[in-house]
Amino acid sequence: MIYMLDTANLDAIQKAVDLYPIEGVTTNPTIIARENRPFKEVITSIRAIIGPDRMLHAQVLGKTAEVMLEEARAMRQIDADIIIKVPVTPQGIKAMKLIHQEGIRITATAILTPQQALMAAMAGAEFLAPYVNRLDNICGDGTQVVAEIAHLIDIYGLNAKVLAASFKNVQQVHEVAKAGAQSVTIGPDVFDLLLVHPLTDSGVAGFVSDWDSVYGADKTVLDVI
Ligand code: G3P
Repeated sequence: MIYMLDTANLDAIQKAVDLYPIEGVTTNPTIIARENRPFKEVITSIRAIIGPDRMLHAQVLGKTAEVMLEEARAMRQIDADIIIKVPVTPQGIKAMKLIHQEGIRITATAILTPQQALMAAMAGAEFLAPYVNRLDNICGDGTQVVAEIAHLIDIYGLNAKVLAASFKNVQQVHEVAKAGAQSVTIGPDVFDLLLVHPLTDSGVAGFVSDWDSVYGADKTVLDVI
């Protein structure tokens, strides 16, 4: 599983890079706007935190494929390794073909159906981002869409990965993991919840208490060997 963090909040990114095995950060226009800072500054600040080896995804906004291509080129001037997110509209699919021809990595976004994902992969998208919670919210089945995209990748031997997105709880993440999603991007709040269980906390507290009663409070293994 490739874990990514879906945020532009620098404190959250710093924390996640420190604690978790995350391989990238994804943003979208809403996420960037939430920070209310200059776009270029947000991108360069994220890169400074995540380093050169982790992925950074940022989205184009143009209404035509030609403008999206220009946006992709401009973002590459800011960050040479940036992965360009493109929505799966008709102009977006055209933009993917153009951007792919220039050797720039692409994440297809705003995917709600397996056919959108399939066409994006054929247009050159490397990551395919279905919106799980937005589907679940309207009585769709986000997990089923993820499973079908993963199946299409498999049977057509596509050079693409599911990047499941839009999560509001841990169970959604778990279901897409079981359904074959190769990667997920998760907001900081839900990401932290992936590790939460009260029995883990009470178990660790019991270990500490039993240890302290014999070896003394705040002693680690280093103090006794
Ligand atoms: O970044 C795309 C996706 O994660 C959107 O999530 O929470 O706005 O549905 P959300």
